[in-house]
Amino acid sequence: MGNTNNHNYTSPTEKAELKLDGKTVEFPVVIGTEGEKAFDISELRAKTSYITLDQGYGNTGSCLSAITFVDGDKGILRYRGIPVEQLAEQSTFIETAYLLINGKLPKKGEADQFSKELTENASLHQDFKEIFDGIPSSTHPMATLASMVLVLSGFYASWGDPNKNQTEVEFRKASAMLLSKIRTIAAYSYKKSIGQPLIYPHRSLSYCANFLHMMFSLPGEEHPIDEEAVKVLNLLLILHADHEQNCSTSTVRLVGSGRSNLFACIAAGICALWGPLHGGANQEVMEMLDEIHHQGGGNIQKYVDLAKDPNSSFRLSGFGHRVYKTFDPRAKVIKQACDRYFNKHGVHDPLLEIALKLEGVALKDDFFISRKLYPNVDFYSGILYKALGIPTNMFPVMFAIGRLPGWIAQWKEMREAKSPRIGRPRQVYIGPAKYDYVPIEKRK
Ligand code: CMC
Repeated sequence: MGNTNNHNYTSPTEKAELKLDGKTVEFPVVIGTEGEKAFDISELRAKTSYITLDQGYGNTGSCLSAITFVDGDKGILRYRGIPVEQLAEQSTFIETAYLLINGKLPKKGEADQFSKELTENASLHQDFKEIFDGIPSSTHPMATLASMVLVLSGFYASWGDPNKNQTEVEFRKASAMLLSKIRTIAAYSYKKSIGQPLIYPHRSLSYCANFLHMMFSLPGEEHPIDEEAVKVLNLLLILHADHEQNCSTSTVRLVGSGRSNLFACIAAGICALWGPLHGGANQEVMEMLDEIHHQGGGNIQKYVDLAKDPNSSFRLSGFGHRVYKTFDPRAKVIKQACDRYFNKHGVHDPLLEIALKLEGVALKDDFFISRKLYPNVDFYSGILYKALGIPTNMFPVMFAIGRLPGWIAQWKEMREAKSPRIGRPRQVYIGPAKYDYVPIEKRK
């Protein structure tokens, strides 16, 4: 399972034909497990001297992958074949991480071993404290996270080196180390930004409980662990865990294709995720809802109109998706989890009401209907993170913690591909045609 290398997905019967310059050229057709079709243009340039142009890569498959399946028209998301709704309901983030990275759910002994490795790796080297001390507290926690993940390469130089053959066990240990340490780094980034002392991880706590402990405990004042909050955090991280070849994952693969080490690739992925069109959208959504709230809460139509205005660059954050042309299945699960958690805890958040109204208005508007713009994962996730006490500027960091298993799995799959090549797109040059250099004194 999880191995794309030994199969041939090329159709024995179907071929794509391209008529160009009076010639007909044939290309193999590739068919995926769920019937997804592509034609393989690897030999296009050699056969025709043409390249394809696909800005934003909306039509370009960059790899064969056995990790995640998304059907954007039907709103389907599966990790290694398992529907994400089932994982969100029944699994934990760590079990899901194991599934993504190793291609199968762990048996009891494997789960225990993985858990032990996570616990053993939760602490950071003491030198990190000084590095944290050197970072200005005004730094966005995503910048701190990316920097610190890169710094890890200095402490564990051989762990993520793609030029060194690692056994499955060595790779599992390296991934446990990264998963465990990113959580500690994330919590430390927060503590640093609010000027509180760093809280060390607790050996007896589960992954998510430990994160909440490091975020909210104080020296001499343990944060009480709420099992419902732990469950919600598991659910959110599971929903973030992978999403095939999105902007940050493609970045991880592209950087990795040049054989950079795993830490460098993950740090690059974090930087890509930070953008407001990608994983930074959850922060943008909350800031938008907050703004509407502070203006009295009745201004929803103004924002919808602004998003529709062709002269404005404003977009309704948390709406639309390159792949989903219906409800994002993750948004559905989060919305239900919001209802459950809020009812159980008697939480009332006016931002949830504004979000529901905004969704209602947008989904009745022809602009959004005709463009198939539905709420995505980021529309409701911030409201739930806020209910857990997570501050807004940490939302993209939460997304990064969640996405880490996906990045690790995709990096591993890329490294193990049959003939991995460096990622190197081409371009169509539209600059000036050749002209000669003019010495400075002769320039007009
Ligand atoms: N608000 C208003 N209009 C929008 C929005 C939006 N949120 N999203 C897309 N459109 C319009 C866009 O202006 C364009 O209109 P027209 O055809 O008139 O030019 C049309 O819909 C298609 O948009 P696009 O930019 O070609 O779509 P894309 O596939 O390139 O972009 C997207 C996808 C997610 C970047 C975009 O929908 C967006 O900017 N959404 C807001 C940011 C956001 O919520 N991002 C999180 C995505 S989910 C988490 C993740 O996986 O990263």
